[in-house]
Amino acid sequence: MTAGIDDIAVYIPKLFLDATDFANARGMDPKKLEKGLGVSKMAIVDTNQDPACLASNACLRLMKKNKLSPEDIGRLYIATESALDESKAMNSYVIGMLEQVYGDGSFGHCGGIECKFACVSGSYALYDNANWIRAGEAENKSAIVIVSDIAKYELGSSGEYTQGAGAIAMLLNDNPRLLQFDPKVTSTSIRNEYDFYRPLGRETPIVHGQYSNLLYLIQVKNALELYKQKALSTGLIKPKEGETFLDYIDFLNMHLPYSTMGKKALAYLLRHEWRELPRWKSIIEKIGMEEPNPKNPIGTIESVLSDTEFMGKDHEFTKKFTQTEEFQEFYDSRLASSLIASKMIGNLYTASLYLGFRSCLEFEFQKGSDLAGKRFGFGSYGSGSSAMIFSGVIQPAYKEIVSDMNIESEVGQRVKLSLEDYEALHENKRSFNDSILNSKHEFVIVDIENKPESKGERRYAYTN
Ligand code: CAA
Repeated sequence: MTAGIDDIAVYIPKLFLDATDFANARGMDPKKLEKGLGVSKMAIVDTNQDPACLASNACLRLMKKNKLSPEDIGRLYIATESALDESKAMNSYVIGMLEQVYGDGSFGHCGGIECKFACVSGSYALYDNANWIRAGEAENKSAIVIVSDIAKYELGSSGEYTQGAGAIAMLLNDNPRLLQFDPKVTSTSIRNEYDFYRPLGRETPIVHGQYSNLLYLIQVKNALELYKQKALSTGLIKPKEGETFLDYIDFLNMHLPYSTMGKKALAYLLRHEWRELPRWKSIIEKIGMEEPNPKNPIGTIESVLSDTEFMGKDHEFTKKFTQTEEFQEFYDSRLASSLIASKMIGNLYTASLYLGFRSCLEFEFQKGSDLAGKRFGFGSYGSGSSAMIFSGVIQPAYKEIVSDMNIESEVGQRVKLSLEDYEALHENKRSFNDSILNSKHEFVIVDIENKPESKGERRYAYTN
């Protein structure tokens, strides 16, 4: 039994913070954001939007576009790290909103849970739902997996310039038009870590930025090692002498907390994969220096980060490696298109990887690439921490879906925030009924109860 992604819909809030305005206000060089991190705009939620609204808006778009009725859906999963409640799952809020459109009780037959593991949980949700379909449990129904988040960091912190917000809804079935998952190769790595976490009651995370960057790379590499073993033992990929598994991945999509993280991850993985291959010799000659090693090669992440001599040399080596034509060719042809939307929108936590996938489809199609039969590899990472590597093949019917993709028109007319309005929104100085925009045809919050017996109950409406 096969399973995969049939269609995908995006909802991005219309308010945004311009990275240059932000950098100027914080006394930073705007080039650090634009070039260093690949951030030009960050989507920001209005006062009357929460992650459940974003999720419902994406899901409604997916259902309307595919003329789906609730009867067609067997499971509705939400992956998020922006939970609204310690107990009540975000799915229930979303079902409540959707039933305002489709009728009270119309989703009564539908199961689902809220999934949490920082940014990787959407990938676990996809995998579990794909397996539900493969197991023959779906009874001709589809599953919907929604990834929805508000990436919000403390004012003045180094995470503040990697914010964003949005949701992506994905339709899964046994005859997908877009991407069929490769069976029996999905691989994970997991480890108890405190690179990025949000203790109960806090709205913003505690972050160890450089630690989280390096951990992301290590965890993804570990998951890739397992993927390679599985791809070899199932016969999915059989590299010939002098080749690597990545030669067989036509397009790569990575988790993108900011868009240049994709390039960083690609450089790390290619160094790892190419090091033992004949092609490495000529690359090293072009780079003009040997690959550096930390003083303690089996040390902790802290020991590597504090080895400043190694870190400096490694940084120099990576920069030179990314300038070689071998790297550039791989980057331009297999990764670059997936980074475009992230630059325009920012970090979406769980949804970032899938915004990258969506971006790759749209911009490769615009370039005239024929994607049918091409293998997409996915590198998912969630702090805390776990990585997942999986892959899938683009299906012949993909053009039906991809030819209509236009991220700019799907986001709609965007409104630039002043720094003052951004900070007031960030610090929750405006109440939910004092929104900046007058939204139309969207779910928004219309009430949040404050009485002790009903504290936190949220009411939503679909605006006309
Ligand atoms: N012009 C051009 N480039 C510049 C520049 C300038 N004037 N100044 C700096 N840069 C470049 C730097 O060289 C660097 O690029 P390279 O790594 O290629 O050298 C880049 O800009 C970033 O500079 P820094 O590393 O000095 O940036 P920073 O320390 O201020 O912050 C960060 C970077 C650690 C990612 C920080 O934004 C952060 O803490 N973010 C939140 C945590 C995060 O996103 N971690 C990612 C992995 S964990 C994860 O993925 C889960 C998740 O979603 C959160």
